[in-house]
Amino acid sequence: MNRIAILVSGASRGSNMQAIIEACRAGRIPDSEVVAVIGSRDDAPALQKARTLGISTAVVNPKEFPDADMYADALLWVLQKAQPDLICLAGYMRLLPKPIVQAYPWRILNIHPALLPLFGGRGMYGLKVHQAVLESGLKVTGCTVHFVDENYDTGPILLQRCVPVQDDDTAETLAARLLPIEHETYIEAIRLVVQGKVRVEGRRVRVVE
Ligand code: GRF
Repeated sequence: MNRIAILVSGASRGSNMQAIIEACRAGRIPDSEVVAVIGSRDDAPALQKARTLGISTAVVNPKEFPDADMYADALLWVLQKAQPDLICLAGYMRLLPKPIVQAYPWRILNIHPALLPLFGGRGMYGLKVHQAVLESGLKVTGCTVHFVDENYDTGPILLQRCVPVQDDDTAETLAARLLPIEHETYIEAIRLVVQGKVRVEGRRVRVVE
């Protein structure tokens, strides 16, 4: 059984998290289960949803630690207890601490609501991303599932899917049109990883079906 841990943030709705949990249960992500959802606030909507779905949750709040290293140690300790084969960021908005990236080489995925390397980086999250897409005049946008490295949104790209930008789109309508595509793209990416069909070769990720 592949053990998946999901990291969310205080504000996460948890829709990607829920899609992953349900895809594991339905066998769309084969031989896999979500063993833990870890967030920064006990009352985060995503953590509440995870508990409703019967998944064990943990809280590691960066604000409760005197420095970044101690937060990293605590998060690493909670992750190690869950013994994940794969870690999925689903709305986790901080830079993932280096010791965690190093402890799980090419075993951490993130989803970003734009076609990286466009519209990524620190501070680019939520509606800000879609607003920037609209301001750029781009006619297509999309989502990216990538491996996590030590910087924001820069790791090797595993999958991308596009959606058209329509003339009357707002950041909200674009986000809403993209969200179900995000769920499907993330599920597909995780399936490929757990089935051992993914090779990271430098910046490029090869899928061997
Ligand atoms: C998604 O748009 C994802 O691309 C980004 O954060 C958002 C999380 O949404 N990384 P949800 O909590 O999964 O609904």
